[in-house]
Amino acid sequence: MNGLNDTMTYRVSGSGESGMDVEKVRADFPALHQMVHGKPLVYLDNAASAQKPRIVLDTLQHYYSKEYANVHRGVHYLSEQATQAYELAREKVRAFINAGDTREIVFVRGTTEAINLVAQSYARPGFKAGDEILITTMEHHSNIVPWQLLCEQTGAVLKVAPVNDAGELLLEAFEQCLGPRTRLVAVTHLSNALGTINPVEQIIEMTHAHGARVLVDGAQAVPHLGVDVQALDCDFYAFSGHKLYGPTGIGVLFAKAELLEAMPPYQGGGEMISEVTFEKTTYADIPLKFEAGTPHFVGAIGMGAAIDYVTGIGLDTIAQHEHSLTEYGTQILGEIPGLRIIGTAHHKGSILSFVLEGIHAHDLGTILDQAGVAVRTGHHCAMPVMERFGVPATTRASLALYNTQQELDQLAAAIHEARKIFRL
Ligand code: ALA
Repeated sequence: MNGLNDTMTYRVSGSGESGMDVEKVRADFPALHQMVHGKPLVYLDNAASAQKPRIVLDTLQHYYSKEYANVHRGVHYLSEQATQAYELAREKVRAFINAGDTREIVFVRGTTEAINLVAQSYARPGFKAGDEILITTMEHHSNIVPWQLLCEQTGAVLKVAPVNDAGELLLEAFEQCLGPRTRLVAVTHLSNALGTINPVEQIIEMTHAHGARVLVDGAQAVPHLGVDVQALDCDFYAFSGHKLYGPTGIGVLFAKAELLEAMPPYQGGGEMISEVTFEKTTYADIPLKFEAGTPHFVGAIGMGAAIDYVTGIGLDTIAQHEHSLTEYGTQILGEIPGLRIIGTAHHKGSILSFVLEGIHAHDLGTILDQAGVAVRTGHHCAMPVMERFGVPATTRASLALYNTQQELDQLAAAIHEARKIFRL
């Protein structure tokens, strides 16, 4: 199976600034071509989960139907094929985020499990009462709750760096939160609720200058930005496959080898051991030390195909396309009376989160759904940031490489229609 696309086949002249042939891209995604409530689907819920290109679906089908056997366990042909494909997927992930070594790539269920792994396996054994973990106001619950659990377990203290009214991290205030007790900074690369892209390079530099480590939650960033963990010099980087056009139930923890080597296992079981007796167990080398039990190897292989797909098109091309869509969406939504965008950072990703005067987000989401437009409504698993902006919920359109200006026009038309229904 080869998931590579010919980059050139996705580029056409005169198809917008990015030069990406979006119709050709759309043809790769079967789920986009369906009717919802009698209307053509407009899928704008990509920050929650992205649709899958045919190459990912075919890869899953192939490995489940042909080259399927458990990995790292059998001497037989199928097991060896599956193991090779699994380890090739690890190499694809390594190259995708430019890690120095495949030993630094741990397959996990997703971003949430990656962060919990770091909390329980890196932080819990060494953190003491009074040690500090610094996060920001805009974190997803998965980058808040694991640290609260850790604080309960160790007596460590959770600190929160504030954001301004645009949803940008206040870097000076962030730096003031760093101190001699800071052990770890855990920060999102791209906020799922606001779209803010954080200056992670500066955050990492400042944090390292204070002798602390940095975990970056990259769940929203990897599908849209090129990530280079060596250039960033981050200690931990976490992301999920399903937002990257790959399968659900698979994700990645990147961690510097020296950290993984020093960390105790997260879970015990098969495959993470070197030798087991009833008296004592020794562990496998990294990364397998952190992959107890049968891994979701078909998911990892499918994620490898998704990586081939996006790198085949080119992350720069994708970013340009999404950037021009975001600018267009910001402009047309901004023209709707009573609509307020929440999250107006200068440096932001393809997320349009907003409130509409006179209509609750859930009601608006239901009306948009009837028009075939799929958005997410609610607190987006980021309740503290909703509180910061004084809103209970927002409606969020989150854009991906296959979205179009026409779809944003359909979103705007459906919002106008909602205003009429509510006699606004
Ligand atoms: N974290 C995902 C979102 O933002 C589920 O929707």
